[in-house]
Amino acid sequence: MNAHSSTSAPVTVLGLGPMGRALAAAFVAGGHPTTVWKRTPGRAGELVANGAVEAPELTAAIEASPLVVVCLFDKESVREVLAPAASSLAGRTVAMLTTFTPADARKVSAWLAEHGADYLGGAIMAVPTMIGQPGSQLFYSGPRHLFDTHRATLERLGTSKHVGADVGTSALYETALLSGMYAMFAGYYHGAALIGTAGVSAAEFATYFVPFIQAMATAADGAAEFIDQGDYTTDVQSLEFNRSVLHHIVHVSEDQGISPEVPAMVRELMDRQIRAGHGADSATRAYESIAHPRG
Ligand SMILES: NC(=O)c1ccc[n+]([C@@H]2O[C@H](COP(=O)([O-])OP(=O)(O)OC[C@H]3O[C@@H](n4cnc5c(N)ncnc54)[C@H](OP(=O)(O)O)[C@@H]3O)[C@@H](O)[C@H]2O)c1
Repeated sequence: MNAHSSTSAPVTVLGLGPMGRALAAAFVAGGHPTTVWKRTPGRAGELVANGAVEAPELTAAIEASPLVVVCLFDKESVREVLAPAASSLAGRTVAMLTTFTPADARKVSAWLAEHGADYLGGAIMAVPTMIGQPGSQLFYSGPRHLFDTHRATLERLGTSKHVGADVGTSALYETALLSGMYAMFAGYYHGAALIGTAGVSAAEFATYFVPFIQAMATAADGAAEFIDQGDYTTDVQSLEFNRSVLHHIVHVSEDQGISPEVPAMVRELMDRQIRAGHGADSATRAYESIAHPRG
């Protein structure tokens, strides 16, 4: 168990980009002795004014706390920063809040284990202004006892969920949610371009798009039932029906002189299932074109 009470557990944050600064600020606001480090020293300004301690050098930053939160740009910057400091990491838990692939997480975790340090994979589903606020959601994976030991500190950043023993799993959750987000935005860009041909602004389109998509997103629960049961039998809104809607969207896009590639991509996912003889099944069967691309 953590020797410190939940508000006094010291924490170190490596990396003070917009996200690292937000993480450190939330720890300071939560009353944690917070040590920060950035490769260009003397730039921790407001954080120091609010009570954080800027370590003069990396090893001092790492040695200041049992929990070291790493929020750097990417895996290369993590390697560049941690490699020279390997000997100071022994006995500490590194919570990796840098965006990693699952493979990156496993590799860095194995490297840390060689140096006597523990690894907790992390993923931030929030932008810096959300950190420490309602709606900020973080996923962690790796040994459950590490999460439990540091949970009270990590909860300062937002709702924290442990999603599995494999250190790479949190990165997979992050990637899955980001994939959904980017596809949703591609739909917004397409819709804005389409309606833009009538001189309607993207801002006006957003006022219709947001409530419509929020309402539609709840249908993911119904889609999940088909996917989890592996049974796409339905008597409403078949693949054939939805494919004709997608074809209509592609056709109108071409008529209006904009690129049809967003709806054409979704139509292709449906077409593959129709060609395999599943036209009467639920449109959710398009999932199979992605999950099992070779059938
Ligand atoms: N910002 C977001 O909305 C958001 C949301 C979710 C997740 N994340 C993830 O959080 C991580 C940090 O995001 P951020 O927005 O704070 O990114 P950022 O602006 O790129 O800052 C990252 C930090 O990494 C440092 N850095 C980069 N290369 C380095 C190197 N070779 N050696 C030492 N330090 C190095 C930068 O230092 P300098 O300032 O000295 O260049 C900076 O302090 C990323 O992995 C990002 O994907 C961000």
